[in-house]
Amino acid sequence: MSILPSQSTTAFVITIDGPTASGKGTVAQIVAERLGFHYLDSGALYRLVALSVLRSGTSIEDEAAVAKLAKTLPCHFENGRIFLADDDVTDTIRAENVGNMASRVGALPAARATLFSLQTGFKRPPGLVADGRDMGTVIFPDAELKVFLTASVEARAQRRYKQLIEKGFPAKISDLRQDLHERDQRDTFRSIAPLAPAADAKPLDTTHLGIEEAVSQILEWYAAKKH
Ligand code: C5P
Repeated sequence: MSILPSQSTTAFVITIDGPTASGKGTVAQIVAERLGFHYLDSGALYRLVALSVLRSGTSIEDEAAVAKLAKTLPCHFENGRIFLADDDVTDTIRAENVGNMASRVGALPAARATLFSLQTGFKRPPGLVADGRDMGTVIFPDAELKVFLTASVEARAQRRYKQLIEKGFPAKISDLRQDLHERDQRDTFRSIAPLAPAADAKPLDTTHLGIEEAVSQILEWYAAKKH
């Protein structure tokens, strides 16, 4: 038996949770790059299951069938691109209908349970930045640094609008506002792993903060924890 610590115990984990379109994905990715850490976009996993549900015509009401899709998800991440089997779905999974379906997948306990070990497997040295809804509360409750990133619905609707237009998806700001509101409600009030800050999470409101300022704040918190 080895007396060396297992690989995963030597990884510093930063969790960044928050509502949809709060900017956490962009911020988390930059923090990971700056620190040379691995990056887990847990929302992408829910979106991949959602895309599989949509493509296979599976009913979202059939929890066992959705969990089965999650269990056999033929996904891989390569050079910042996301693949479902051989199909590069990096942009496809960002569509609003996929995001809305992802939020319904996220409300199914069996799907969440199936994705649990896939997510914890991302914890590798030297560290991990994990973004999602329940990273600090359920998946990595022992994370050394937990951040809860928020922004007003209006600021998030504007950001999502810009993101979608840049990716060539049609978008209407009033529909986005409504979608965000509904998604927040579903994510916050679901019975399993609801969107909520961990008791020891540091709140970071980015309504009036640029990406670089949010990144700097998190790196400052990291530096303080490290020393
Ligand atoms: O973060 P993103 O908008 O890509 O996530 C899409 C959906 O996946 C969310 O609305 C949420 O319902 C679900 N999700 C989740 N738990 C996570 C990450 C995402 O339930 N850790």
